[in-house]
Amino acid sequence: MDFRRYPESNFCSTPIKIGSLFPIVVLLSLLSTLSESNQVGDGVTIIDATGKYVMPGGIDPHTHLAMEFMGTETIDDFFSGQAAALAGGTTMHIDFVIPVNGNLTAGFEAYVEKAKISAMDYGFHMAITKWDEAVSKDMEVMVKDKGINSFKFFMAYKGSLMINDDLLLEGFKKCKSLGALAMVHAENGDAVFEGQKRMIELGIMGPEGHALSRPPQLEGEATGRAIRLAGFVNTPLYVVHVMSIDAMEEVAKARKSGQKVIGEPVVSGLVLDDTVLWDSDFQTAAKFVMSPPIRAPGHGKALQAALSNGVLQLVGTDHCTFNSTQKSLGIDDFRKIPNGVNGLEERMHLVWDTMVVSGQISVTDFVRMTSTECARIFNIYPRKGAILVGSDADIIILNPNSSFEICSKSHHSRSDTNVYEGRKGKGKVEVTIAGGRVVWENDELKAVPGRGKYVKMRPFNYLFDGIEKADAEYLSSLRAPVIRRTMHVAA
Ligand code: URP
Ligand code: ZN
Ligand code: ZN
Ligand code: ZN
Repeated sequence: MDFRRYPESNFCSTPIKIGSLFPIVVLLSLLSTLSESNQVGDGVTIIDATGKYVMPGGIDPHTHLAMEFMGTETIDDFFSGQAAALAGGTTMHIDFVIPVNGNLTAGFEAYVEKAKISAMDYGFHMAITKWDEAVSKDMEVMVKDKGINSFKFFMAYKGSLMINDDLLLEGFKKCKSLGALAMVHAENGDAVFEGQKRMIELGIMGPEGHALSRPPQLEGEATGRAIRLAGFVNTPLYVVHVMSIDAMEEVAKARKSGQKVIGEPVVSGLVLDDTVLWDSDFQTAAKFVMSPPIRAPGHGKALQAALSNGVLQLVGTDHCTFNSTQKSLGIDDFRKIPNGVNGLEERMHLVWDTMVVSGQISVTDFVRMTSTECARIFNIYPRKGAILVGSDADIIILNPNSSFEICSKSHHSRSDTNVYEGRKGKGKVEVTIAGGRVVWENDELKAVPGRGKYVKMRPFNYLFDGIEKADAEYLSSLRAPVIRRTMHVAA
């Protein structure tokens, strides 16, 4: 079967009708008569996808490119990170704008500059790191004018990004009024600080101290607290990087009770475990330091199961790369190891191999978890996350019979290390089409800086449906029945 690609980004006008339902996965060999029966004009490239899956390009909901963090800046910028993404079948990502000294507008402008070298489409979330009238007003500007529809609150990183419950409540209320999605990094930052002191007192200074100082119970506590506060405000909540059973069970409980909570595991949490943090070689161990930490064996499997049974909804990467020199900032003290791991290039392959090849999820689920659900949550469906007339031509071809091998010598990230080094698996993204252009084919990358576009995201996604009604019901339950009290005055 032939798969037609038009040279410009008007792919959607193609006569090939590949599906109209959500989500879409089409084995092109099923459409076996089209190539013979349709005329194609000059300048049309034909790609043979016989026996392969044609799917919407991946969307990574969670990345940190060119992020200033822990005294350094992530090694992947908006070009190298995106080049890696495209080589791995991801055609859009949503990055976190960090305000400049708490100022949202300054932060937004800085990220607009950083993103000018983009090779693929991208959107922004924004972190909220302090609270005052100006921040509250700027949130409005971000949502109404700048295309941001989600704000992240860090409950950890005491002394830098961390906010307290007071701010969390103000932020949740403001998000709700704007129809923006509240997101949390859920770890109890005060307790983490205490845990770090404990490790230092015990003389544990190496990377294992990172995991030991912030155990799963601190992630579970913060996840539960954020969920309860979001429930109290009655606004939807998105929990980023769910890394532990403890946090996942809080999400499960809330969803079972009907609360609108989204749980996002990241690839590292699904497929790695923390035993590497005890490696005697500092670099080998330090490259796995991220927050919340990669957990003990068992957590990853439980997160995989939660994905397959619907407790968790989509998979991100939290791609936040630092090279060995940067990781060495913490050679004497784990608290100074820049937190973060790679994943943008590897996510699609590892989710396919871990979840689909193993039989835990279907191919349709795969499309939903790596693309469509992200597009729905961030309100860009069906422009993204679908192959439909009118959608952007972000498409991949995955060969289920081919295989991949991950190697830092050949990956496209600028980092000299890879937390998935040496992993092999089945299924390979052989072609990536971004905005109607073939950018990855025959293991050759044709990423062009400046081609990527900023994707504005509208507020009030589907999670806000029914929120007003629930508020009205709550208010009327407070008013009725009216309690009549009599006062007894002593004679
Ligand atoms: O270790 C991590 N996750 N680094 C990136 C910042 C964050 O918390 O998402
Ligand atoms: Zn985080
Ligand atoms: Zn992150
Ligand atoms: Zn290698």
